[in-house]
Amino acid sequence: MAATLVLVGGGKMGAALIGGLLNSGAHAADALAVVETSPNRRDELAAMFPELAVHAQLSGDVVAPGGGAIVAVKPDQAESVALLLGGLGVERILSIAAGISTQRLQSKAGPSCRVVRAMPNTAALVGKGMAAISGSDAATAADLDWAERILGAVGTVVRIPERQMDGLTAVSGSGPAYLFLVAEAMIDAAVSVGLTRDQATTLVTETFVGAATLLAETGRSAVDLRAEVTSPAGVTAAGLRILEMKGVRSAFIEAIQTAAERSFQLGRA
Ligand SMILES: NC(=O)c1ccc[n+]([C@@H]2O[C@H](COP(=O)([O-])OP(=O)(O)OC[C@H]3O[C@@H](n4cnc5c(N)ncnc54)[C@H](OP(=O)(O)O)[C@@H]3O)[C@@H](O)[C@H]2O)c1
Repeated sequence: MAATLVLVGGGKMGAALIGGLLNSGAHAADALAVVETSPNRRDELAAMFPELAVHAQLSGDVVAPGGGAIVAVKPDQAESVALLLGGLGVERILSIAAGISTQRLQSKAGPSCRVVRAMPNTAALVGKGMAAISGSDAATAADLDWAERILGAVGTVVRIPERQMDGLTAVSGSGPAYLFLVAEAMIDAAVSVGLTRDQATTLVTETFVGAATLLAETGRSAVDLRAEVTSPAGVTAAGLRILEMKGVRSAFIEAIQTAAERSFQLGRA
């Protein structure tokens, strides 16, 4: 039986989405299929999701006309996959390919298929993703709801106009990497003040989790939360003074502006 939802590209992000959809019960396994060109990866997917149909290529036997598809291949493959999907009568496409506009995908998929584009991040792998979605001109509110249900299985979803996608990519798409860099630096610093690397890793990791939870769950601003742990002339104030003197705030502003510009350029390459 052909699936009503097919995932094309069962790599890291694709597998995270499938795992989220199955674990949350958002989609029945027998109505889902994966198309993956790499034979090794197909074996891995079959081991990870024994209940799932894993195929080597797209065809009318894999996805039912009127069904939907998630495009999770690398960006340079996304347009050719959209062309194939449109030809098979797929009605909706959710593409997570970075930088490929809805207009480019929509023009390949054709008028009987509607495209939604998303930018997820790697935290989707642990169900804590942050994703944004934008619809093509042809996409309806129901198409956005459909895309939100899929990505909602692996985290939080916001809807944005597509013109904000480069900025969002630079913030939440790349964001985990910035925070990992800060974590690396804090672990090195902890070792430099006498802690072991194991201790440092636990301290920094749990500090990140705790601070992120405070930010997410108290509803208070980062400014307030920071002020609260900063007594006048105290330990934290001494540390923060150095971070401000070294320009950490402007470094982040410049980094995110440069990353957004890079995302803009790559999308037009
Ligand atoms: N990873 C992230 O943090 C992240 C964040 C936001 C968006 N994205 C987007 O998510 C997409 C997937 O990223 P990823 O990190 O999951 O990549 P990935 O691990 O390389 O997964 C892509 C998979 O698709 C397979 N594939 C290639 N062409 C195919 C085709 N025509 N039909 C079916 N399968 C095909 C690839 O096989 P081969 O390896 O043999 O080519 C690979 O196994 C990318 O477009 C990326 O821009 C990723």
